[in-house]
Amino acid sequence: MRFQGAQVAAGLMSVLPGAQALLRFSCSQLVVERLDPLVNPGVVGSPHLHQIIGGNAFNATMDPAKLDIPGTATCTTCTFADDFSNYWTAVLFFRARNGTYHRVPQKGNVFFEQAKGGMTVYYTPTLTGGKVTAFKPGFRMIVGDPMERTAAGAAKYRQLTYTCLQNSMTRTGETKNLPPKPCPAGIMANIRFPTCWDGVNLDSPDHASHIAYPTSGTFESGGPCPSTHPVKIPQLFYEVIWDTTAFNDAAADWPTDGSQPFVWSYGDATGYGTHGDYVFGWKGDALQRAMDQNCQNDRCSGLGSQSLQQGNQCTVETTVDEQIDGWLEELPGGMAVTDASGKVIY
Ligand SMILES: *[C@@H]1O[C@H](CO)[C@@H](O)[C@H](O)[C@H]1NC(C)=O
Ligand SMILES: *[C@@H]1O[C@H](CO)[C@@H](O)[C@H](O)[C@H]1NC(C)=O
Repeated sequence: MRFQGAQVAAGLMSVLPGAQALLRFSCSQLVVERLDPLVNPGVVGSPHLHQIIGGNAFNATMDPAKLDIPGTATCTTCTFADDFSNYWTAVLFFRARNGTYHRVPQKGNVFFEQAKGGMTVYYTPTLTGGKVTAFKPGFRMIVGDPMERTAAGAAKYRQLTYTCLQNSMTRTGETKNLPPKPCPAGIMANIRFPTCWDGVNLDSPDHASHIAYPTSGTFESGGPCPSTHPVKIPQLFYEVIWDTTAFNDAAADWPTDGSQPFVWSYGDATGYGTHGDYVFGWKGDALQRAMDQNCQNDRCSGLGSQSLQQGNQCTVETTVDEQIDGWLEELPGGMAVTDASGKVIY
């Protein structure tokens, strides 16, 4: 089914109160492997599998004291050619009745159908007026907690959700758990980061304490930042589309107890442990200029851009030698699937 531009725009705008300036652009897949330079720097073979997008300076180490990201990267998978940041999330798997796992493919979003997987990235300066401060070189952050398995625990991450896509335009009915029923056009994972910064620390031991949510209301309602984290930063938001269509025959393929069959690479069948990672790497002050100009979508005066096809060409070699495709006996890294009490369920 094809959508007209106006319908698409109306659908996308339904997630926002009125027409707002925001960057919305695509970054194709860079690499899928068990690396995590934020949580496990230098470790080749982090505990769980990630899908990573952005600049090709990405590797296991990425020492913030030594690495000049935009000066080192020679290409990016993003359509903003000045964005050498890295963005990553876990990887979704389907668990078959016989207990084997299959990686769920990703697909490009509305307008970005030609992208090789990856994500749609948004930077929204503000929905209610005023200036925001773009991230600085060396800035990193994580939102969400892969150990979380309960709705109560996940509630502290206000805006980590799933959309059960009835079609590519569905933007309503977000849930905090993995959708319990088949989603005809796939599952979209929505990862929105907190929008307040302490103004001092580029990172913190848990990669999250230097950022915070507004004290009341939300980013969308213009809620104030806490005095401990007074600096408004852009809202960074990932949409990641998992193309579940090959696994949607519930009668034939889903668990006979009526549960849903998808599990995250970090061993979560609930969805409450969803999380996203970010390492800032825009060239110079390009992101600040984009925020100050209230640029819209994937074009901005003075900022370089490239086609989706050019972005698709940028990759890095995998460094962890293991099979991640086909039917696997276990999740990559031997990650066990656990419930809320930490008990291994499979
Ligand atoms: C990562 O890249 C940096 C800079 O290019 C390099 O010095 C380092 O050795 C690389 N680390 C790994 C594990 O490849
Ligand atoms: C396990 O189930 C999947 C999906 O039905 C099937 O493709 C695969 O061949 C099965 N593997 C074994 C070892 O039976």
